[in-house]
Amino acid sequence: MESNIYDSRTEIDDDVLVFEDNTDAIQLEEGTAWKIMIVDDDPEVHQATTLALKNFTFEGKTLNFIFAHSGKEAKQLIESHPDTAFILLDVVMETNDAGLEVVKYIREELKNQFVRIILRTGQPGEAPEESVILNYDINDYQLKVELTRQKLVTIAIATLRSYRDLLVLEDNRKKLTELNAVLEQQKATLTQMLDKLQQTELQLVQREKMGAIGNMVAGVAHEINNPIGFISGNLQPAVDYIHDLFELLDLYQHKFPNAGPEIEEEIAAIDLEYLREDLPKLISSMGTGIQRIRNITTSLLTFSRADCDRKVPFNIHSGIDSTILILKHRLKENKNRPEIKVVKDYGDLPDVECFPGQINQVFMNLLANAIDAFELGIGDWGLATGDWNWDPNQIFKEFLPQSPIPNHQSPIPTIRISTELNPPKTSVLIRIQDNGVGMSEEVKQKLFESLFTTKPVGKGTGLGLAIARQIVVEKHQGTLEVYSELGHGSEFLITIPVKGEFI
Ligand SMILES: Nc1ncnc2c1ncn2[C@@H]1O[C@H](COP(=O)(O)OP(=O)(O)OP(=O)(O)O)[C@@H](O)[C@H]1O
Ligand SMILES: [Mg+2]
Repeated sequence: MESNIYDSRTEIDDDVLVFEDNTDAIQLEEGTAWKIMIVDDDPEVHQATTLALKNFTFEGKTLNFIFAHSGKEAKQLIESHPDTAFILLDVVMETNDAGLEVVKYIREELKNQFVRIILRTGQPGEAPEESVILNYDINDYQLKVELTRQKLVTIAIATLRSYRDLLVLEDNRKKLTELNAVLEQQKATLTQMLDKLQQTELQLVQREKMGAIGNMVAGVAHEINNPIGFISGNLQPAVDYIHDLFELLDLYQHKFPNAGPEIEEEIAAIDLEYLREDLPKLISSMGTGIQRIRNITTSLLTFSRADCDRKVPFNIHSGIDSTILILKHRLKENKNRPEIKVVKDYGDLPDVECFPGQINQVFMNLLANAIDAFELGIGDWGLATGDWNWDPNQIFKEFLPQSPIPNHQSPIPTIRISTELNPPKTSVLIRIQDNGVGMSEEVKQKLFESLFTTKPVGKGTGLGLAIARQIVVEKHQGTLEVYSELGHGSEFLITIPVKGEFI
């Protein structure tokens, strides 16, 4: 294809007004010259213009001419040279309004608002100045006859100046847009960081609180254990002493069968026979009581176990049991509901390598939520009259993805906790189910979000499940899922790998 580009720095002879488009034409490197386009069907106009501007420079840059001889050619060239600074555009070429069509094409089709367009017409009758300047997005209108060399130079300077300003403006606009995008991005990052900070702070506070409660509980349990130790340690000697005393009494009675009325009366008054029978029972029930206190303190100590920095083998059932013990007072009957029944269906589980304190915190949050679910409204427990009908085969028929919510209908508010080893035996599965108020789809979507709560102010912080999820999923590489229907109870399903990965 014929080259249409000509560099004004190329030496041309002043006397020679005719030159070949493709001779002496060189393509300039981008950025070293202003691209200008001459569009005219008269080759003489091309020559005259080139000649007039041959030594022209603006801001140290020369001109790089692009020649088009028809409207059609102009359209093609401007498309491949969108960085053209200005066009000197003839109006009447292959058609009477070929130049005006080019204007439309540039502005409306190519959406090029930068290139400056100077109409140069030889027949103003075809394109009257006022209507053209009004209806076409051009930047100047000149009559060919009036175009002297000096006029052309003036126009070129003025036009390049405004083109340059436009470029600067555009450049600034781009920079501003980029800056704005960066700022928006930074703002988003900051907002995210702030959110995360707030959550972390709340979680830290919550953890701190749990830690403090744990320490206190452990301290109290330990303090109770000492005196319990004295009592239980002394119980057997006390039984032995009593036994000895009774033997001595027998011996007395045997040696002195007639001890006199005073002693006989006293024997009758204290009902010695009954006392002999009852005292061992009494001591034994004291022993049972002490054993119970022992179990409680052991549970308390289990629950409040401080975690070390690595995972340790832990009996999940002891964790659940100790958590239930801590929450026992909340299971009691109140004015809104009968006592909550806790049904345990424990499978055969190996110890799980985990952070016991954290896992207990998960049980604590899930069980506390289940208890709350009976306060939040009437669920299945309040609707039915039948018995609590658990059929383990039915319940465990299927696991994921759709956990079957069993028949919860029971007049008794009930929490059911079941555990089992997942079939490949690599993780344990713990289900905590309640027949409480259940959850709507909307609540289910959000319940693991930090600070999401439906509980009254002061009651819920909305952190329980967010923390539980973090502990199960992030710290233990397990899963935590929920199944629930509004009015029909909820089920939380936890899986924890038996072998804890080092994190
Ligand atoms: N077993 C459940 N039954 C019904 N709704 C539940 C149950 N568990 C959780 N939810 C819903 O999920 C929400 C979020 O629970 P989450 O434990 O994260 O926060 P919370 O209990 O409201 O407050 P916090 O635990 O911090 O004191 C609850 O407000 C409640 O609406
Ligand atoms: Mg909660």
